[in-house]
Amino acid sequence: MIELENVCYAYGKEIALRNVNLKVSKGESLVIKGPNGCGKSTLIKLLNGIIFPTMGKYTYKGHEINEKSLKDNKFAKWFHQQMGYVFQNADNQLFCASVEEEIAFGPSQMGLSQEEVIQRTKDCMNLFGLEKLSKRPPYHLSGGEKRKVSLACILSMNPEVLVLDEPLAGLDEKTQAMLISFLKSFHNAGKTLIIITHNNELANELADRIVIMKESHDFNTEFSLK
Ligand SMILES: Nc1ncnc2c1ncn2[C@@H]1O[C@H](COP(=O)(O)OP(=O)(O)OP(=O)(O)O)[C@@H](O)[C@H]1O
Ligand SMILES: [Mg+2]
Repeated sequence: MIELENVCYAYGKEIALRNVNLKVSKGESLVIKGPNGCGKSTLIKLLNGIIFPTMGKYTYKGHEINEKSLKDNKFAKWFHQQMGYVFQNADNQLFCASVEEEIAFGPSQMGLSQEEVIQRTKDCMNLFGLEKLSKRPPYHLSGGEKRKVSLACILSMNPEVLVLDEPLAGLDEKTQAMLISFLKSFHNAGKTLIIITHNNELANELADRIVIMKESHDFNTEFSLK
């Protein structure tokens, strides 16, 4: 479903990804590990169509994802709804006046009925225990609260693929346990998960496959857990 062929990416002269080859099947749960600075977040930005390969090719469900294809608004909308992405830093993702509006924003862009938008917003606030914060501005929340809001925002769009960059960072134990059990049920529902984490416990619990990125920014090592 997701295929990267010889993908390279450079920030100006700084090469962050070199010859990445990766295939992810529908319904697979993939964990990506690797040292700081090896290009994990860059890879994730690329998978989400925020940046594009400097060289090589990225296809999603057979469609090439590049600057040109995402200029087609209809295609871009479809693609961004398929692929749910939670930033490593939640501050980059929150911009609405209240938590409620923030969570409702994605579904309201999807052409759903008003009732459906309200229902999804409620369900996602409930899932993360955000009801008490619903009227608060997201940028005044604590770090962990912001993370919960950004997760709720993505899940409210019911994505096909969920891409998470260090999902447990900054969350309390109860929220971590809730998130892990949610991710399991998401995976069991046949959806695709791509998770970046340094947390071995999370990797072992969720991964069908683990890939290790090396500092040379290459997918040289790849091994299967299950
Ligand atoms: N905006 C940028 N401009 C220039 N170089 C960048 C930029 N963002 C990242 N880099 C560089 O690209 C490389 C990969 O960065 P990236 O953020 O993808 O690493 P990472 O594997 O996610 O690291 P971490 O584990 O610390 O989150 C690093 O060498 C980094 O310095
Ligand atoms: Mg990173």
